[in-house]
Amino acid sequence: MTSWHTLMMVSHETPSTTALFAARGSGEIIGADPQRPRASAAIRSADFAPDQGRWLDIVGDDALPRLLVVGTGAEGTDTTERWLAAGGHLVDAMRTLRIASVRLPGCDDLGGPDALQSLLTGALLHSYRLEQGRSDAVPGFQPERLVINSADMVHAEEAQRVSEAINRARAWVEQPANLLTPAVFADEAASALERHGVSVRVLGPAELEELGTGALLAVGRSSEHEPRMVIAEWRGDPAREGWDAAFVGKGLTFDAGGLNIKTRPIIEKMKFDMGGAASVLGAIELAASRKARTNIVVIVPMAENVIDGRSARPGDVVRSLAGLTVEIVNTDAEGRLVLADGITYAIENYAPAYVVDIATLTGMIAGVLHEEFAGLYASDAGLANALMRAGEVAGEPLWRMPLSASQDYLVDSAVADVSNFGAVGFLGVGGGSSTAGAKFLERFAHGTKWAHIDIAGTAWATRRTARSGPGATGFGVFLLDRWLAGLESGLGD
Ligand code: BES
Ligand code: MN
Ligand code: ZN
Repeated sequence: MTSWHTLMMVSHETPSTTALFAARGSGEIIGADPQRPRASAAIRSADFAPDQGRWLDIVGDDALPRLLVVGTGAEGTDTTERWLAAGGHLVDAMRTLRIASVRLPGCDDLGGPDALQSLLTGALLHSYRLEQGRSDAVPGFQPERLVINSADMVHAEEAQRVSEAINRARAWVEQPANLLTPAVFADEAASALERHGVSVRVLGPAELEELGTGALLAVGRSSEHEPRMVIAEWRGDPAREGWDAAFVGKGLTFDAGGLNIKTRPIIEKMKFDMGGAASVLGAIELAASRKARTNIVVIVPMAENVIDGRSARPGDVVRSLAGLTVEIVNTDAEGRLVLADGITYAIENYAPAYVVDIATLTGMIAGVLHEEFAGLYASDAGLANALMRAGEVAGEPLWRMPLSASQDYLVDSAVADVSNFGAVGFLGVGGGSSTAGAKFLERFAHGTKWAHIDIAGTAWATRRTARSGPGATGFGVFLLDRWLAGLESGLGD
């Protein structure tokens, strides 16, 4: 079972340490806590610069609590980002100083519910640690609790709701591929979502064979861990008949490349290749947990791309669910194959107004956009703009990439309807370009407003950010939820 450590929010404890905050600018303690004069005097006498990542530990005695002052950086910069980051640095301070539990100032002291909510979200996201199979599940000292006013519990619940979905997605991405197989992933997805009233169906290999998902099966056939397809429905507006959106997530629990095998150091990262799947599952969890008034479906093709005698060979031609034949020029371009069948399943069974797929599709997008932006390809400008707005709100920004009819030849094949790599041997990039991946998927999404988000660079962070430490980021969970929220209020188009 994939599990992780995180902080708890409580309102009934009296811990020995109180956390306070200070910003650069006024140089004063933020808020009206009774401990403020003592903390202000201490930061002056210590000449404390309240930058992000700095803290001051003020020891108390039997009568006075210990005070922990956390810097929040310069005033006037983006408040949400500042409080998120400060929440993370609070957790770092607790880890370093071995403080299990601190009391936080109230929401009014911090300047309102948004500030408190961002602070708590940052703390919850940074306290996340995957629990693994070693003797101490999470090594090192881990903080346990943040104590808040009971009146503020509603803001804590909101921070908890959002961070739980993001942390679950991160834990799945970090879980090793021998533990998170397609079968296990499908089971865990079902139990995480059913709790929120999402209805989940899982198709196994026999049903997929029957259905005709030849592209997905060609990828997953050679693994002892056979493919699955998860279909999760949230009908938040049952009075309306149609489906507003389908999210399709790439769920490769491991991508060795197949016969076009990967080498080190890339291959050992490839347990992360179900990052798109984790994002769409997290997004529907968020939608359901806030009772979003939209009707959405999530489709997750899951498989493992490894090698045995049944492996697809470069040059094989397979028949996809859509009926289009595909030349598998390169077995390592497997993401687009499984997504093609997922997109077709969504369109044929749900006729959604929008289809958005999200995938760790190409190393190239990481080379171009690095870890800050995910690549966005879209057939529709309204959809592209709405997704980019949602990305900004969520702090998960997108950068739009070209998708033009002049590039149709990129996926031409001499022997099949479409090539997964591109038959043309022009200089440089071949089918490895993220453009070719998007052009391939476009063939399966035609006729529907569709967007493709390539998160190969953003699903895993090598550096700390306001929302995550090094490791899985959960990129896409909050972005898709915010896009849906926009759609709900009529802004999605
Ligand atoms: N899962 C990989 C994408 C990837 C590669 C992510 C490297 C992060 C780092 C995907 O299935 C893949 O192998 N893509 C190939 C495509 C190529 C064979 C057309 C790539 O990007 O090299
Ligand atoms: Mn691959
Ligand atoms: Zn892959």
